[in-house]
Amino acid sequence: MSKTTLPLDRARDFEREQSILIPAGDRPLFHLTPLVGWMNDPNGFCWYNGQYHLFYQYHPYSRSWGPMHWGHAVSRDLLHWTYMPCALAPDTAADAGGCFSGSAVPMPDGRLMLVYTGVQPASTVGRETQAQCVAIGDGADFEKAAGNPVIDPASLPAGYSACDFRDPKAWLEDDGSYYLVAGNRQAQRQGAILLFRSDDGLKWEFLLEIDSSREEYGRMWECPDFFPLEGRQVLLVSPQEMHAREEFHAGYGTVALLGDYDRKTHAFTREQVQPVDHGLNFYAPQTTRAPDGRRIMIGWMDNWETCKEAPRRHPWYAQMSTPRELRMEKGRLMQRPVREFESLWQDTVRHERVTVQEETRLPGVQGRLLDMTVTLYPEGSGCRRFSLRLARDERHFILVRCDLARGELVFDRSRGGSLRDIAHTRHVPAEVQDGKLTLRLLLDKESVELFINDGERVVTSLIPTPLTADGITFAADAPLQLDVEAHHLG
Ligand code: FRU
Repeated sequence: MSKTTLPLDRARDFEREQSILIPAGDRPLFHLTPLVGWMNDPNGFCWYNGQYHLFYQYHPYSRSWGPMHWGHAVSRDLLHWTYMPCALAPDTAADAGGCFSGSAVPMPDGRLMLVYTGVQPASTVGRETQAQCVAIGDGADFEKAAGNPVIDPASLPAGYSACDFRDPKAWLEDDGSYYLVAGNRQAQRQGAILLFRSDDGLKWEFLLEIDSSREEYGRMWECPDFFPLEGRQVLLVSPQEMHAREEFHAGYGTVALLGDYDRKTHAFTREQVQPVDHGLNFYAPQTTRAPDGRRIMIGWMDNWETCKEAPRRHPWYAQMSTPRELRMEKGRLMQRPVREFESLWQDTVRHERVTVQEETRLPGVQGRLLDMTVTLYPEGSGCRRFSLRLARDERHFILVRCDLARGELVFDRSRGGSLRDIAHTRHVPAEVQDGKLTLRLLLDKESVELFINDGERVVTSLIPTPLTADGITFAADAPLQLDVEAHHLG
């Protein structure tokens, strides 16, 4: 094992000095932000020694992506986070070009193993390469394995890429074997997920390719996750360069492949495919298993396309999504904010069966720190269109419009204060079921997460609108009955 070297000490000194200059009120209420600087993917999400650990792709020195470190925070309820010192810095030959995304596995001997991608910079003799590395520690300090990289791309079967080989998600099976899945790109430029096995986490053997994009779901598959859920197997991937089709938007997306997994042969049979999140800002989600068995997912509440143009209003940049419980229902992967979330509820306002038509405000329903569920009862109303405007003032609003006849929801933030001509709208299926349609919105200052029909579909988006724009209005093209339950958060 190598000794801690200078880049990590430098990052820790820097974040200690700079973070005290950031007032807590500058940050969102419950979404995790980087201690200082820049954040992207969630990494190493796990339950270890009585608390959740969440690491993240981190560039402490600026609000833009740079040489990747791992930031670190811990929490007992997934909502209140305590920062830990920077966990990894690029400081060895195996990761000199950056410590890219990866995962964490509590080991049987009580230590925590981080498995991550070490980037080796391009040299005069070759291109940049990506290899899988290990660091083991006590949950605060980690020593990189002397044998890094533990999976060299040179060991891959012919046809796989050595420069797009990253984001290991590792786990320990009941039989004591470690497994990991990692993203790769085949020679034909198709995203692929590779499965490896190990006895000790240090020596790995390649088993097989779990699945690939098959010319349908993007060119490189980043940040895989692979886990059983209520009798089915879920493969999560974040593809780059997707074509828009069906429910999938173009560019960077998040995809869940649902199927069957044979634990003996390791064959994964894909049966269904769905987007994980339909919003403008969600990418690279990772899951962990809570001690009570729940499968909890958290994602980077941003996107590579939009982050470049996003305003830098704070000394830090980017945040994680709300942690969500996953479940299978109606043959789909469904999501709900973790139930711990209810501990943030403060004043609750309820309006039952109110009728709206003209643009209406409802007493007590406003703000930018809110968990609000709106239930529409359109049957027999003749109503075809319902609109909800939030983060509203004279100039701005975020529009959520339900086209009830078509069963479609339009999320539109083009009047949300952005000065950039980037994607601002999404069209999402949203059907009336058993006479109603429910929309649950979590507002945390500069973001909104919208759960349609109890999490059948989710739309996650940042909202650049000034915080003083806190109005919420409801309107419909014919008298429409609604229930509104709004919990103010604190
Ligand atoms: C996904 C990603 C990963 C990579 C990391 C680098 O957002 O591109 O594939 O490991 O970010 O920061």
